[in-house]
Amino acid sequence: QERLKRLGKDSDFAPRHVHVVGAGVMGGDIAAWCALRGMQVTLQDQSVERIAPAIARAQTLYTKKFRGDRTRVRFTLDRLLPDPEGHGVARADVVIEAIFEDLEVKRTLFAALERRAKPEAVLATNTSSLRVEDIASALKDPSRLVGIHFFNPVAMLPLVEVVDGPQSDPEQVRRAAGFVRRIDKLPLPVKSAPGFLVNAVLGPYMLEALRCVDEGLAPETIDQALVAFGMPMGPVELVDTVGLDIALAAGKALTGGESEPPRALVSRVQAGKLGRKSGQGFYAWKDGKAQKAK
Ligand code: NAI
Repeated sequence: QERLKRLGKDSDFAPRHVHVVGAGVMGGDIAAWCALRGMQVTLQDQSVERIAPAIARAQTLYTKKFRGDRTRVRFTLDRLLPDPEGHGVARADVVIEAIFEDLEVKRTLFAALERRAKPEAVLATNTSSLRVEDIASALKDPSRLVGIHFFNPVAMLPLVEVVDGPQSDPEQVRRAAGFVRRIDKLPLPVKSAPGFLVNAVLGPYMLEALRCVDEGLAPETIDQALVAFGMPMGPVELVDTVGLDIALAAGKALTGGESEPPRALVSRVQAGKLGRKSGQGFYAWKDGKAQKAK
């Protein structure tokens, strides 16, 4: 408790520029949030086309937050720059990676980022299921890497896990927590263990709901029951929101690959039905809202 209250509060780290790599579900929303909280942000992905939807989502968020005040929306959007070439890395105080959940791809990216980033910049991964130390060993100086694990949807959820890998420099962890406070989120210090803290609890809950789908229960039935119980969103809709590929990877990491993942999950991932982001998962999605289950 004490450590939680203190973490990041006394930080003299004053980051101004954040570089985010990966403009998907998480990277796009992390970048948008950081710009909303006053940071200069550069957002990198493989092409401008992949960054555009994230900028459009940011505009919707700012329009809602500023109740349509176009000047403030414009002003905030000006701090969020699409950067497909990654020029912003060299200027950034914090670099956050939110690309595909693939160890080798992340390792290759960090080896390149380390060469371009300022020596004092915080290097962070948003991974939900990989071990920070396994990514870090691709760096010349593995102590530079920490986890900064946001939750989806970023604009609504205050908690951010700050992952202290066994190789992480305590000063980097402290600075990462200071950054999280600066963007008005609550840093929760966690060790690099499967699921960290939140997903270690939430993962089995979501997987169990999908096993009920395997047994023939309709997603709507499960979700309605859990919403009636008091959850803000049903577990199947939550899986759709998180992304089915991400849920599958996280499930494997949590169970150590020892139990078979739910069939309903595997078959949809194989068919490219990844949930909200692809327009179809357990539900069909339109304008960011779940329609009838399929
Ligand atoms: P996503 O699939 O929506 O986005 C990934 C993006 O990374 C894509 O736009 C892709 O083009 C880009 N990308 C891939 N390789 C790249 C590279 N080498 N350089 C530049 N861009 C590249 O994935 P999502 O859901 O945003 O997940 C990203 C990370 O965040 C994963 O590590 C995941 O585990 C983690 N995460 C996901 C959460 C969720 O609810 N979806 C929650 C918390 C963490």
